[in-house]
Amino acid sequence: MAQQITKYICSECGHVTTTKTGKCPSCNSWGTFEILPEVSSSNKNSSAKKNLPNIKIINALEVKTPRRISTGIEEFDRVLGGGLVPGSVILIGGQPGIGKSTLLLQAAGSVAKNYNVPVLYISGEESDAQVALRASRINTASENLFLYSGSELEDALINLENNNFAFFVLDSVQAMSADNNSGWVGTVTQVRAVAQRVIDTAREKKIPAVMIGHITKDGKIAGPMMLEHMVDTVLNFSGEGYSAYRMLRAVKNRYGSTDELGIFEMLEDGLKPVTDKSGLYWNREDSAVPGVAMTIALEGNTPLAAEIQTLAAKTIFPYPRRTSRGIELNRFQLLTAVIDRRCRISTLSHDLYINVAGGLTLQDPSADLPACAAIASALKNVSLQSGTCWLGEVGLAGEVRPVTRIDLRLKEAARLGFHTAVVSSREQIKFSGIKIIRVSHIDEALAGLIVANSTQSR
Ligand code: TYD
Ligand code: MG
Repeated sequence: MAQQITKYICSECGHVTTTKTGKCPSCNSWGTFEILPEVSSSNKNSSAKKNLPNIKIINALEVKTPRRISTGIEEFDRVLGGGLVPGSVILIGGQPGIGKSTLLLQAAGSVAKNYNVPVLYISGEESDAQVALRASRINTASENLFLYSGSELEDALINLENNNFAFFVLDSVQAMSADNNSGWVGTVTQVRAVAQRVIDTAREKKIPAVMIGHITKDGKIAGPMMLEHMVDTVLNFSGEGYSAYRMLRAVKNRYGSTDELGIFEMLEDGLKPVTDKSGLYWNREDSAVPGVAMTIALEGNTPLAAEIQTLAAKTIFPYPRRTSRGIELNRFQLLTAVIDRRCRISTLSHDLYINVAGGLTLQDPSADLPACAAIASALKNVSLQSGTCWLGEVGLAGEVRPVTRIDLRLKEAARLGFHTAVVSSREQIKFSGIKIIRVSHIDEALAGLIVANSTQSR
């Protein structure tokens, strides 16, 4: 047997040596060497050879690509990662009235019709007449779409026993009561029991299920915290109250990415997917107005053209107002301070208002540069070059930083007819279909690009 050599490890930087020295040659710390414990040889190669009960080698497992069921609504399928996975359970949450029941009744109707299979819609919230009225409004007539209205979950699920149902929807998890469970519907124990029963049924029958969930005032799904852990996919359906547009996003997805964004429009006859999202949140004509800057924001994987509007109004008060919608107020104030200090454009004598058109909320840091451009343009009352979009994060020193997935954004900008993009000088770009102006500092970005026409106002 070979003789063991003692090794030493530096406790500061992990440098290993066979001679113990006072000073570590790697990190120059003193007195940090300790003996490196030996890994005993019996542990080294025991793994695959011993008898291993209850565990498996992952590589040896059979890989099955799930056969997905299309909801018949392309935007919905995309957010799910390609459709409903048999045996999986989806939880969808959203404000009351946003259109959850409408979306799921539409999906249930199309699965029933397109696959010619029975689908069960369980409604604990609405009567037969109400669901029938909605179904006729959205035109989901199908011989195969069945309704259970009531709050006894077992009464509803018993129908799945001997019939070949291919999909079921539970509307909503807070409105049902599970057998053998005391307590009011909607209580934490009831909700957990209902969800568990739905999950067990979906797994056992190998069919997909969707549960609709109510949300609390702070936007979380009402019920036990573990509800979201129990299901395979959690979707969030949202929208601004005044706008007809609705956004569907995956918060968690065991069968796909959480990067996709689905957009729908609520019309008289149900939800209509918006496949061309380019015109939703900006208006070409607005680019001639002082205080307006265009950008391409990313919502997950979807590039969205957005219009940032700023208004500057002179004030005599010592504390000028800062009001924002669609951009976080703190961030707006920070960017205003950057402009004041780094570009020497005084902001103190003006109230400033910022708004992202169309009710969009921009969390993407790439909105910093267009927001700064819009603020400066509003303060100087001169418009920015039209046909230009702005993409960059702005730091406190006024430096302009790169953004994620620049090529995807530039491609979308070019597609929409923008001829120029202002980006960070450190950006690495492959796409060549648009004129690029590189800037390293916000001062530089604004200096050459504001069209000097100080008489212009609108
Ligand atoms: P609903 O699906 O009931 O919302 P949720 O289940 O999330 O509470 O949708 C409610 C709203 O949608 C309601 O205010 C009316 C509107 N709506 C339409 O505009 N068009 C339609 O075709 C339908 C069915 C609903
Ligand atoms: Mg509903």
